[in-house]
Amino acid sequence: MKFFADTAEIADIKDLAATGLLDGVTTNPSLIAKSGRNFMEVTKEICDIVDGPVSAEVVALDHETMMKEAEVLRKIADNVCIKVPLTIDGLKTCKALTSDGTMVNVTLCFSGNQALLAAKAGATFVSPFVGRHDDNGVDGMDLIRDIRLIYDNYAFETEILVASVRHVTHVLESARIGADVMTAPPAVIKNLVKHVLTDKGIEGFMADWAKTGQSII
Ligand code: G3P
Repeated sequence: MKFFADTAEIADIKDLAATGLLDGVTTNPSLIAKSGRNFMEVTKEICDIVDGPVSAEVVALDHETMMKEAEVLRKIADNVCIKVPLTIDGLKTCKALTSDGTMVNVTLCFSGNQALLAAKAGATFVSPFVGRHDDNGVDGMDLIRDIRLIYDNYAFETEILVASVRHVTHVLESARIGADVMTAPPAVIKNLVKHVLTDKGIEGFMADWAKTGQSII
């Protein structure tokens, strides 16, 4: 499963990129606003740090203007992936862009039917938001199971990019279901490595090693 960082914070992206575990980045208008940075500049910086897909979202709601915005965004770098909302205009834009080889991430997906439309529109990625389903008392992971079943039924190539990830269990469940990608805040990605028994084990090994009085270097 590929790991994308869901952030526009350069320092966090550099930190994760240094681990070799980062496969891409997703941003959206809210994350860009939170960064306080110029959208074009910060997207270029991210594309220079990460080789994998970097999602940059259009803000227009009509197809014609989405295409104009996409034209600007995809000139930033070869690894820019255009993000469009799951609307008729977003799907039209997805179909047009992917037809000429541009990566497209169809976002704000909340149902199996929407994911089916994204695949039919040739989306590179579809972004079902699990956390926001959870917020409304619905198990977001059921949506991922649904989409995995639908996509496997028809051998759709669109990759399931689990978004709105809030904690490590969303990541674990996504891997169990067979999602292709998960995108999460850097803090969630860093939490994946933590286990109290690992910490205790290291402590015990170090204490016993100290008793030998030896060193390796
Ligand atoms: O990639 C989508 C993500 O940024 C939304 O997350 O926590 O606002 O639902 P959240």
